[in-house]
Amino acid sequence: MSHNEHYADNKANWNDRATVHAGSAMYRLDEFIEDRSLISRTVTYDRDFMPNVEGLSVAHLQCHIGTDTISFDRLGAAKVIGLDFSDTAVAEGRRFAEAAGSSTQFVEASVYDAPAAIGSTVDFVYTSIGAISWLHDIDSWAQAVGGLLEPGGQFYIRDVHPFVWIFEEIDGKIVPHFNYWHTDDPLSWDEAETYTDDPDGVGITNTKHHEWNHSLPDIVNALVNAGLRIDRMDEHRGAPWEIFPSAVREGDLWYLPEPLRSQVPVLFSLNATKL
Ligand SMILES: C[S@@+](CC[C@H](N)C(=O)[O-])C[C@H]1O[C@@H](n2cnc3c(N)ncnc32)[C@H](O)[C@@H]1O
Repeated sequence: MSHNEHYADNKANWNDRATVHAGSAMYRLDEFIEDRSLISRTVTYDRDFMPNVEGLSVAHLQCHIGTDTISFDRLGAAKVIGLDFSDTAVAEGRRFAEAAGSSTQFVEASVYDAPAAIGSTVDFVYTSIGAISWLHDIDSWAQAVGGLLEPGGQFYIRDVHPFVWIFEEIDGKIVPHFNYWHTDDPLSWDEAETYTDDPDGVGITNTKHHEWNHSLPDIVNALVNAGLRIDRMDEHRGAPWEIFPSAVREGDLWYLPEPLRSQVPVLFSLNATKL
């Protein structure tokens, strides 16, 4: 299969998921519409790691249906633009922002085309939780991040740690199963499930999707080659969804069962500045 075919499968799958997620309890759109001071759980967590967005122009890459995106508006950003390749996610995001009284804008485009699609540089680029595994070309992604930023502008990502991607839960045991290093061939799945708390399979008819792992050096080097200085990296033990069936929930986060919890990070975050 070509990368164009992978892209088409992923887009169709994410269009289906966007509709399911917009109606899901997990994404809480009604709560955001009712309570105009509500900030998403993801952005609430990230505030301890990312810059203060007050007064900044913000681009949120792979923004999905916009709950994190409008949170930046609520935190006082001067301008917020969410970008996603799913036309359904963008339509849901626009509807949601209007209902929630937010001036957040949404752009439909591939992340690789973000600088041209957004058309102006910004002070802060953000992306998080389940973003870069959908991209086969981490170098072009980093070039897009660099192309969007003003000199001195900041970038923040929190995403799945590439090391945890090597594990699979088989017969109730989480064991090493997949390659760590990137391959041009994706891991391809055919399943009607998504990660929200709805009954599996409801509304997902485009079931094929494809993902790629990117090692930490591949991510860091791609950003350095795109003209960014790495300022900080962190590793996190908790994930904001049930990362494996036997993950243990504590509050809003899921942890690997011990001893893996003490052995393996599940997310990483990185801060960088455009030189
Ligand atoms: C797991 S979601 C990110 C979710 C986000 N953290 C949230 O919970 O709202 C991944 C998003 O990436 C988008 N996506 C995948 N591949 C993309 C691409 N090549 N360009 C732009 N968006 C893409 C999907 O449409 C989806 O909305």
